[in-house]
Amino acid sequence: MCGIVGYIGNKDCVSFLIEGLQRVEYRGYDSAGFIVMEEDSMKTHMKKSVGKIIDLKKKLKNSDKGNIGIAHTRWATHGEPSIANSHPHVSNNKKIHLVHNGIIENYISLQKKLESKGYTFYSETDTEILVNLIESYYTDDIELATKKALHDVKGTYGIGVIHIDEPDKLIVARLGSPLLIGIGENENYFASDTSSVVAKTDDVVYLDDKEIGIIYKDRVIHKNLEDEILEKNVEKIDIEVQEIEKDGYDHFMLKEIFQQPRTLIDTMRGRILLDEGTTNLGGLKQHPEVYDALINAEKIYIIACGTSWHSALIGEYMIEEYAKISVEVEYASEFRYRDPIITDKTVVIAISQSGETADTLAALKEAKRKGAYTIGLCNVVGSTISKVTDAGVYLHAGPEIGVASTKAFTSQVMALALITVDIARHKNMSFREGYKIVKEMKLLPTLIDSILDNAPAIKDVSLKFKDAKNFLYLGRGFNFPVALEGALKLKEISYIHAEGYPAAEMKHGPIALIDKDMPVVFIAIKDAIYEKVITNMKEVKARNGVIITIASYGDEEIEKLSDYVIKIPDTTNLLMPILTVIPLQLISYYIATARGLDVDMPRNLAKSVTVE
Ligand code: M6R
Repeated sequence: MCGIVGYIGNKDCVSFLIEGLQRVEYRGYDSAGFIVMEEDSMKTHMKKSVGKIIDLKKKLKNSDKGNIGIAHTRWATHGEPSIANSHPHVSNNKKIHLVHNGIIENYISLQKKLESKGYTFYSETDTEILVNLIESYYTDDIELATKKALHDVKGTYGIGVIHIDEPDKLIVARLGSPLLIGIGENENYFASDTSSVVAKTDDVVYLDDKEIGIIYKDRVIHKNLEDEILEKNVEKIDIEVQEIEKDGYDHFMLKEIFQQPRTLIDTMRGRILLDEGTTNLGGLKQHPEVYDALINAEKIYIIACGTSWHSALIGEYMIEEYAKISVEVEYASEFRYRDPIITDKTVVIAISQSGETADTLAALKEAKRKGAYTIGLCNVVGSTISKVTDAGVYLHAGPEIGVASTKAFTSQVMALALITVDIARHKNMSFREGYKIVKEMKLLPTLIDSILDNAPAIKDVSLKFKDAKNFLYLGRGFNFPVALEGALKLKEISYIHAEGYPAAEMKHGPIALIDKDMPVVFIAIKDAIYEKVITNMKEVKARNGVIITIASYGDEEIEKLSDYVIKIPDTTNLLMPILTVIPLQLISYYIATARGLDVDMPRNLAKSVTVE
């Protein structure tokens, strides 16, 4: 969703701000803007545009220069995408400028209070209220005024503030929206996302909730809202610039699909104990109380949204079958408003690629409030969810830029399999079974390579369906959630209506849709319920449906029932989703690109959904 970037130093910062915004384009946005100030003359230059950053660039003039600046990409929540609603927002006296990620929940009452003091508002945003609230507290110190205003605010924020009478400093603060400060040589930066600063510095300080940073060219002071000075650690950024570039691929999504053999190795690295037929997850073991609670849990809730919710469903199948603990998977958005039963034998696992999803975070906080031990499975290091959970497992899949999640999904499934084996080996799973699974884990990257080698053939099949209006995805057991994920991938980036179902459920309704124009994707690998899936395929064929099957190598029978077959290698049951999902990711990608769509930034979607 929104992204923020800022700079203070001796150089002109317009190009840094623009590049910083381009690095967060993937998060999704509909307008953008920046303001820069020249320290000596105190002159300001502001530019805003609706649409892409390229449109903002077109508005640049040579005179747009400044050595202090703040910038923003906006994903509309309060008010349509427009120049008036885009950031930076300015206070009524035109002296304070502010960029903001998040939502001010009590903006209506604050607005009334400010209106009674004579303030006027020119946009429909909650942010304009915050900048004027700061002005209402200002006497001669922007730091103090910002702190006072933030005490009045309910909601979430990651903000950057400048005051034109105090051109030696930038103020930043966070509550529930990510914010980091990049440390340079006589220049400093801030951003909502490490990718905005990685080309400039490796040294960053991550702000925690209710913290404020006063950023000068040559130093940064950290405080809490109570004005106490804080000592913060400078950390090293764990990503390289090339990780956030396309590396010769046409799209980030394609790069990320093809990266999966490597990202899975990274997820497994140091976590497999082949000789013991088990796994070792440091992020859990370092917290013995949480680890014990997990192994002895009577109930596990897994909470997540979107693609992460699909991997959670696979986790449910894995943990129940192998570790024999009852698991309930919940949409985080539902969990947060229910009254789930949580006892001292309940553990809650939150899965989130970004670690910032508002619903997942709120559900997690609710679980903690009720006394559950919490575990996070996140990809983004230092993300909010990774910080608020009691223990966790990082995915180590590297930055995922494409809005449609691909490599994070396979790494989530892998992380869940690693957890499952760990718990199960403490219980009923034999060395022999554990050994077999972890050995198969190590083979997966090579097996994925062989599927990716077949990408041209998968592309040929996909192109035949580029004009389809609807799609049905069917699978059973571990591959039912993969059917859901295949359908989600297709609708997200190709805008084709697609649904996923457990294959047997088809005859309870969706079968009514089947005719010669309805492509049905079956996942029919040779597992214990293979014969049942074959029966479901016959039901589709009898109604002239067009069948595309993801099948096991060597399955000749399947050819007779299918119009198109994509063959993949086999592995052990619980790992099969990591293989079956790959052709589905490619099908979505090839169909969407054939339709001429922007697969990395599909319409209306944001990479990280930081609002409810
Ligand atoms: O960052 P998260 O894993 O918490 O994100 C959850 C969903 O918003 C995300 O998976 C979304 O569904 C993706 N666009 C899927 O491709």
